[in-house]
Amino acid sequence: MNIEEFVEKYKVERHNSTSLKWDLLEERFGDADLLAMWVADMDFRTSDSITEALTKRVNHGVYGYSFVPQSYFDAYFNWMEERYSFQLKKEWIRYSTGVVAALYWFINAFTEPEDSVIILTPVYYPFHNAVRDCGRKLITCPLNNDNGYFTFDYDRFEQAIIDSRAKLYIHCSPHNPAGRVWSEEEQDKLFEICKKHNVLIVSDEIHQDFTFDDHKHIPAAVVKDGKYRDLIITVNSASKTFNLAALIHSNIIITDDILREKYDKYIKTVNQTDFNTMGLTATEAGYSSGGEWLESVKSVIYSNFVYARDTLNKELPEITVTPMEGTYLMFIDLNKIIPKEKTKEFIQDRCRLAVDFGEWFGTDYKGYVRLNLATTPENVKIAITNIIREAKLLKENDYMNVPSLLSI
Ligand SMILES: Cc1ncc(COP(=O)(O)O)c(C=O)c1O
Repeated sequence: MNIEEFVEKYKVERHNSTSLKWDLLEERFGDADLLAMWVADMDFRTSDSITEALTKRVNHGVYGYSFVPQSYFDAYFNWMEERYSFQLKKEWIRYSTGVVAALYWFINAFTEPEDSVIILTPVYYPFHNAVRDCGRKLITCPLNNDNGYFTFDYDRFEQAIIDSRAKLYIHCSPHNPAGRVWSEEEQDKLFEICKKHNVLIVSDEIHQDFTFDDHKHIPAAVVKDGKYRDLIITVNSASKTFNLAALIHSNIIITDDILREKYDKYIKTVNQTDFNTMGLTATEAGYSSGGEWLESVKSVIYSNFVYARDTLNKELPEITVTPMEGTYLMFIDLNKIIPKEKTKEFIQDRCRLAVDFGEWFGTDYKGYVRLNLATTPENVKIAITNIIREAKLLKENDYMNVPSLLSI
């Protein structure tokens, strides 16, 4: 299916559908009329195969106690093996009601109060919250940022681990918002440091299925033929892949017996409910027959990115656009066109956009914004056009005295 056909078939009006992204703009941004380019979900209906599987379940009309069928494992394991050469075993798999929930459980299961947990900033803000909320010490270590291209700063990472005696590192792969798809070599070098200092690695791989060009996602547990498996706890989900976030279903993979035992001991103390039947049903349908839909939505997203990047580069070369190797989130640096403290006013009041602001991901990132490109080309065009028009106005005039020309 080409891009136009896909967009026509799957785009959907989301206002008044209890959408956090579209219906809570007033509450979260103080302005209900913004174009929603924030929360990381998609403005497209999920694949037909998922809708059919859920409909079948609903038509049956019974939601009694359930179990995970063999067909679920078959679908999930095939997906992971075919795409990521990760051969899974049933006994390694656990479930969580969302990836963020799992992060909290891992922190509680594998560290003690007052232990330090390290994250690499800028990074998805619930990483910060999870560490703080669990009463652990949050250690933030910056990624290198070379004109929007982010890399690991190995020396700084090691020093931060030594200084803080960190027990756990939360890895984001592919990385939100830096857009990096970490190579095997990069991960090997980073994990070697973890191994040397006995730091456990929680790998959040929720964005695994969004990689572009020739960038290939390498699961942490697959790096160097599983060399670091005794340090790794992985969590992934079909929720980003097939737009299923509200069905709150994720997979946890713990290949190491000792780590798994420790996790199981902890999880007993919170009497965790195993899974949600609708989440499980949708996940199985996606992994077994959602591949074509995924390829189409990825084409839309990447075409949106190429348009946004090229148009911004041409019209406003002062804006740095981070290369989007993976995820569907575009991170851009507005610092050369607008003073940091005016970013919110510029983006919301002038450009009429609701975005994720850079400082949510790390204190050094005020002046950056993250735009969600999993939407229609039309919305992306409005967003980019508004930014360009307002930035040009701003260049030509005194910002505070120029009325906005825009409405969406
Ligand atoms: C890196 C990362 N982890 C987790 C999540 C959310 O996961 P969940 O909705 O399953 O809690 C997101 C959503 O944007 C994310 O970017």
